[in-house]
Amino acid sequence: MKLPHLVILGLLLVASNCQDCYTFTCDTLDDLVCAIVYGSQNTVTLNDKGCSYLTCNHTYVEDAVVKSQATGDTINLPCFVGEETENNKIQLDYYVKCETRTANRDLVNGTFPKTCNTTDDCKLKDGDYADCLCGMDGNKYCYADKSSELYEDFWTVCSNHDGQMYYRDMLLWNYTVDNYITLYSAPFCAENLFPEYILNLNFIVDSSMIKTLGFLSLLVHLL
Ligand SMILES: *[C@@H]1O[C@H](CO)[C@@H](O)[C@H](O)[C@H]1NC(C)=O
Ligand SMILES: *[C@@H]1O[C@H](CO)[C@@H](O)[C@H](O)[C@H]1NC(C)=O
Ligand SMILES: *[C@@H]1O[C@H](CO)[C@@H](O)[C@H](O)[C@H]1NC(C)=O
Ligand SMILES: *[C@@H]1O[C@H](CO)[C@@H](O)[C@H](O)[C@H]1NC(C)=O
Repeated sequence: MKLPHLVILGLLLVASNCQDCYTFTCDTLDDLVCAIVYGSQNTVTLNDKGCSYLTCNHTYVEDAVVKSQATGDTINLPCFVGEETENNKIQLDYYVKCETRTANRDLVNGTFPKTCNTTDDCKLKDGDYADCLCGMDGNKYCYADKSSELYEDFWTVCSNHDGQMYYRDMLLWNYTVDNYITLYSAPFCAENLFPEYILNLNFIVDSSMIKTLGFLSLLVHLL
């Protein structure tokens, strides 16, 4: 009998579509505990003490969030032994071409970062709808792509350099575009806990980038 399975699958899909975003907060947990995920409350508590000589990362916590969504369980996530990361030996100080900016990628109503309930709240001037995605603060936000007004300074830097940009700066901008909602809404202790939030490239972040990132400047470590 396949029907009951289909019915159950349908219910799960409906349930996950209606699922509220998890709210991440910081609190003091036991030593070497990364986070506690409360599936019945849609919350995650991150350890503001960090992981000491061990490590943790956002993907690892998100995997537990997905598990707890299905079961409603409370999951204790211990810190773990990190893999040795190789220092960045890639050559980054050469110019790459900026892509072509797409017109009309701003919101019809409001400006980024904009909270939303559904993708309908994220209509763009070209008629597309941007995704409405969960931030870490329990709110949903419209996704801003690189052509949007949010990245005006990226395009200014490009046009000031003949349509080109340092490769390392391009990587930082792309990282920011990909992770904007998470970084924008992360609680203060996430930086301690998630080493991937620290951009350990040899960036010399110019002032225009800091202006755009603003809230992010704490996360950007100038080496
Ligand atoms: C995050 O942690 C998981 C679990 O230990 C590991 O498999 C994965 O490679 C880590 N990801 C990053 C980006 O460090
Ligand atoms: C713009 O959005 C606000 C709230 O997000 C809403 O109240 C208003 O009706 C919207 N305006 C238009 C023209 O859609
Ligand atoms: C989302 O829905 C809530 C409750 O219905 C409402 O108060 C809020 O204004 C909505 N947000 C947006 C951006 O439309
Ligand atoms: C940066 O992102 C743009 C747009 O998605 C892409 O075309 C480009 O290849 C990326 N550049 C690097 C260096 O990752």
